Amino acid sequence: MPPKGKALQNTIVFEKSGHIGILTINRPEALNAINSDLLDKLFEQITVIAADKELRCLIMTGSGKAFVAGADIGEMSGLSREQSYQFGIKGHKTFCAIEALDIPVIAAVNGYALGGGCELALCADIRIASERAKFAQPEVSLGITPGFGGTQRLVRTISQANAMEMIMTGRTYSAQEAFEMGLVSRVVPGDALMDEAMKLASAIAANAPVAVRASKKAMRIKYDRFLHADLEAEARLFSSCFETEDQRMAMGAFVSKSPKSEFIGK
Ligand code: CAA
Repeated sequence: MPPKGKALQNTIVFEKSGHIGILTINRPEALNAINSDLLDKLFEQITVIAADKELRCLIMTGSGKAFVAGADIGEMSGLSREQSYQFGIKGHKTFCAIEALDIPVIAAVNGYALGGGCELALCADIRIASERAKFAQPEVSLGITPGFGGTQRLVRTISQANAMEMIMTGRTYSAQEAFEMGLVSRVVPGDALMDEAMKLASAIAANAPVAVRASKKAMRIKYDRFLHADLEAEARLFSSCFETEDQRMAMGAFVSKSPKSEFIGK
């Protein structure tokens, strides 16, 4: 039952404009943070998109001021190691389904793309950012590793040094810095983001669909090699951080909106 007085909200919104699909993560009250329920709904929607042979390009974006501000810290804060492993695997299943779409996927990053949000953007074939967008993999500041593929997809997307710096420091990068690192292919004024994404998608959709799909498949061969085994390794390492005092303290501090203590390495 939904909470009293609150309408049922579709956390995933999907629309079509000709051959282009637009998928919006729509949980703005939590800055589109990804919980298990949202992952299930996203997977269901991707399955529908995969079966739609009219589509030639997909745009993913977020509603409100965030693209996605990460996996849901409230849900993760009390997970056991085994539960966190299952949470990571659920994320991988959904994100791999996005990558497995045979049509090109564009992430239109409208705002915060943090943790699982940056990882969601990494599943797209092309990323464009609003000048308001912010990127980070802040997991180490919460006592965990990235768990929705960031440790594997970031090193396949930008340089090893930049990926290491981004994940080890957890710091937030501007859209311009993301462009300079090659994380996004262009930065556009905030109000122009969806128009630019539609123009890009329309240019792709005007090309020969069989050739576009074959090009995507060919370009992904190297990227995808060993990816699934590497994601399994990530899920194990991600879960190894749960039930530690540092993870419980850092996530507990976020949930209770209190300051963090110093990390102790246990
Ligand atoms: N999980 C759960 N709730 C979140 C959230 C998240 N990742 N990010 C934001 N929210 C919620 C906040 O708790 C708040 O809820 P209430 O109104 O109920 O208090 C609401 O969204 C609005 O957020 P803020 O009030 O914090 O908004 P702000 O503008 O002051 O700050 C922010 C924005 C800097 C993005 C801040 O919300 C923030 O730091 N969020 C967490 C970002 C983060 O650490 N993400 C990584 C998560 S770990 C991960 O993703 C692991 C993985 O790889 C699987």
